[in-house]
Amino acid sequence: MALLGIKHYPDEVLLKVGKPVDSEEFQNGLAKLVEDMFETMYHSEGVGLAAPQVGESKRLFVMDCSGGEDRSRKFAVINPEIVRVDGEQYGDEGCLSFPGIYTKVQREMSAVVRFQDISGEMQEEEFTELEARCFLHETDHCDGIVFLDRMSALKREMAKRKIRKLRRTGEWD
Ligand code: NI
Repeated sequence: MALLGIKHYPDEVLLKVGKPVDSEEFQNGLAKLVEDMFETMYHSEGVGLAAPQVGESKRLFVMDCSGGEDRSRKFAVINPEIVRVDGEQYGDEGCLSFPGIYTKVQREMSAVVRFQDISGEMQEEEFTELEARCFLHETDHCDGIVFLDRMSALKREMAKRKIRKLRRTGEWD
């Protein structure tokens, strides 16, 4: 396993729509990429990490909102689809591509989703609360959308100002 470098906003790979993972890729290095992404996510104490964040413009991400405590909450999500969403939640959100930025973001409270697992099997799950927030955030990454785009205009301006300052002082690369 290897730790991967995490791309920070505004790296262009974060703003591009990811390519669907095709059946050939499942045979070809996908398991290694997923393992490395899990290791990188746990190392950085994140609960989700999407392929574009490690420079791969693909529709895939890893998530584990139990922080490695519960194997049943560990998901490799390939070619995610949101089937249905319901309700609302308003809570703190962060992103490994935005180190030090935590902001309240509105999301749906639950999501019925479909995706392929690492063996290519189609899975359907219903996620709620933090897991729903995480799944929606990571699926956004696969679509080239970052959480900045989901903030209120005021919070987005505050976050941008903070990022500009950190970039100026060399604390953000
Ligand atoms: Ni993120």
